[in-house]
Amino acid sequence: MTEAALRDDLARLCKSLFDRGFSVGSAGNVSVRLDDGYLITPTNSCLGFLDPARISRLDRDGNHVGGDKPSKEVFLHRAFYETRPAAGAVVHLHSTYATALSCLADTDPEDCIPPLTPYVVMRVGRVPLVPYFRPGDARGGELIRALDGRHAAVLLANHGPIVSGKDLTSAVYAAEELEETARLLVTLRGQKLRMLDESQVAELRAAFG
Ligand code: 13P
Repeated sequence: MTEAALRDDLARLCKSLFDRGFSVGSAGNVSVRLDDGYLITPTNSCLGFLDPARISRLDRDGNHVGGDKPSKEVFLHRAFYETRPAAGAVVHLHSTYATALSCLADTDPEDCIPPLTPYVVMRVGRVPLVPYFRPGDARGGELIRALDGRHAAVLLANHGPIVSGKDLTSAVYAAEELEETARLLVTLRGQKLRMLDESQVAELRAAFG
């Protein structure tokens, strides 16, 4: 895909997330890997109204080389790209239910989104909680790097989800799946749940990676 087509795709998918309430105001940021760097949504931009030509461009080392000033969360995105060589895109949202789980004191920090349905296992995998840090704090990148690329997605405590995928569409779909599963978990709270068991999870991993 050409860079121009990727810019259009980024704006189209971000608008779709915004239109369906997965992000509000200027919350959230999305990036995609290029051969020689990255595209990332500009800081304080609304995902619903991006101008493809003004999307920020970074070189391989993360230097800002084009478009508007990049998202302050660029550290988080780069930590995923550096530790997960197959990651082609990263989506960070403040989507309501995943963020709710990131605020609950009894969310299991090793496994925030237990295997309730097959698709969350297939698209997202096990999701750990990363301790709270201020938005835009470069230490957030270090906390994600310390996970050594073992997880496609994490929840940032009291903040929201960040999800990687092999390409933009996959990362967006995974972020949506994570949010919808979080919604089920919050909706079903207090009720007796039947999770998928270990052999069902293993079967999904073997079939879908
Ligand atoms: P930016 O506007 O800098 O991308 O930050 C938004 C956000 O979601 C912070 O976590």
